[in-house]
Amino acid sequence: MIEFRNVSQSYKDHKVLTDINMTIQSGEFVVLIGSSGCGKTTLLKTINKLTSLAGGDLLIDGVSIRDIPDIALRRRIGYVIQDGGLFPHLTVEENISLLLETVGMPSEKIPARVDEVLEMVNLDPDTFRNSFPAQLSGGQKQRVGVARAFSANPDIILMDEPFSALDPVTRGELQNEVVKLQKRFHKTIVFVTHDMDEAIKMADRICIIQNGQIAQFDRPEEILKRPANAYVEEFVGKNRLWGNPAYIHAEDIMKKAVIHISKNRTVLQALQIMRHNTVDSLLVTSGREHRLEGIIWLKNLQEVKDYSASLEEYITQDYISVYADTSLQEIIDTVDYDASGIIPVVNHENELLGGLTKSGLLATLSKRYRRDSTEGVEE
Ligand SMILES: Nc1ncnc2c1ncn2[C@@H]1O[C@H](COP(=O)(O)OP(=O)(O)OP(=O)(O)O)[C@@H](O)[C@H]1O
Ligand SMILES: [Mg+2]
Repeated sequence: MIEFRNVSQSYKDHKVLTDINMTIQSGEFVVLIGSSGCGKTTLLKTINKLTSLAGGDLLIDGVSIRDIPDIALRRRIGYVIQDGGLFPHLTVEENISLLLETVGMPSEKIPARVDEVLEMVNLDPDTFRNSFPAQLSGGQKQRVGVARAFSANPDIILMDEPFSALDPVTRGELQNEVVKLQKRFHKTIVFVTHDMDEAIKMADRICIIQNGQIAQFDRPEEILKRPANAYVEEFVGKNRLWGNPAYIHAEDIMKKAVIHISKNRTVLQALQIMRHNTVDSLLVTSGREHRLEGIIWLKNLQEVKDYSASLEEYITQDYISVYADTSLQEIIDTVDYDASGIIPVVNHENELLGGLTKSGLLATLSKRYRRDSTEGVEE
């Protein structure tokens, strides 16, 4: 666990970080994002003491980094930077060995560990062990950088824009591999990027830095849906949520004002509401929580002689409902809009929260995401 307590940093009189308070859990993947010069690299270097702490405190598993010797910190924290940070005059093997020697691994164990971490990042040791960095592609260099960061088996790995110089395909592959390695070995990763898509794809939580302060620190879904301020909103961009349909749920796109009727009303009242709204079915609810009881269809009311009869015996279960947290993807895949004009949206207590219609869904998709504060209406 990494705890920032009122951390501040300045270079001469220039304040770079102000009152950073944040707790990163063990095994968590946190992505830092923010505009150039906002302090991301400084924040990362504060964790491994490449920049010494000016104000506040920073604790790793409850111990202040002021009390952790530098060498112990090197062993516990791996570091990857943009161009891999490899020494150009050393081979791949020597680059990794050097770090392992620094952290005190017995020399007879080092060659096997080098091979192991190269295999971990999908580089064949026999092919690459003796290569110099200049003989590697950008992606291969970054793989070596990642292998080296994992080699001493640290709990924490810091990555400063490690993939930003790579082509999109290589970048995508490395993103997937790093997330897999992180989960498999339960590493805590703090990863800096400029790329919001990369952040959403990799992060458990995203920390958005604005002028040396935390603008928002939250799960990707929350950041996409509820940006804390205009700066975050700009980072998120208007339509990005729609590129991530797993994060869009029925409650985000439903119409809250769905017409429904209480089950103790009469047939006449139901017919009037249907006529008034030109619909051929009505959702029926009971109680103040609007518990969904079923649906009534116009065709089933047409033969009724006694208009003052209670609706109750005409209620059918002839409808499909979705939960508020059903994803857009699932809705599109499973729901048959032709079966009913409206798909009721309920919570897990079966209380009616809103509804989806085919036309409404299309309209929402074309307008993209916006919040709708309209309250439900009962007629
Ligand atoms: N060694 C230094 N001496 C003086 N000022 C510095 C030093 N390192 C960084 N700064 C200043 O601190 C601020 C934050 O820099 P930092 O490198 O942390 O930003 P960043 O968010 O990583 O930016 P980028 O996205 O461009 O990498 C900048 O204004 C920068 O000019
Ligand atoms: Mg930087």
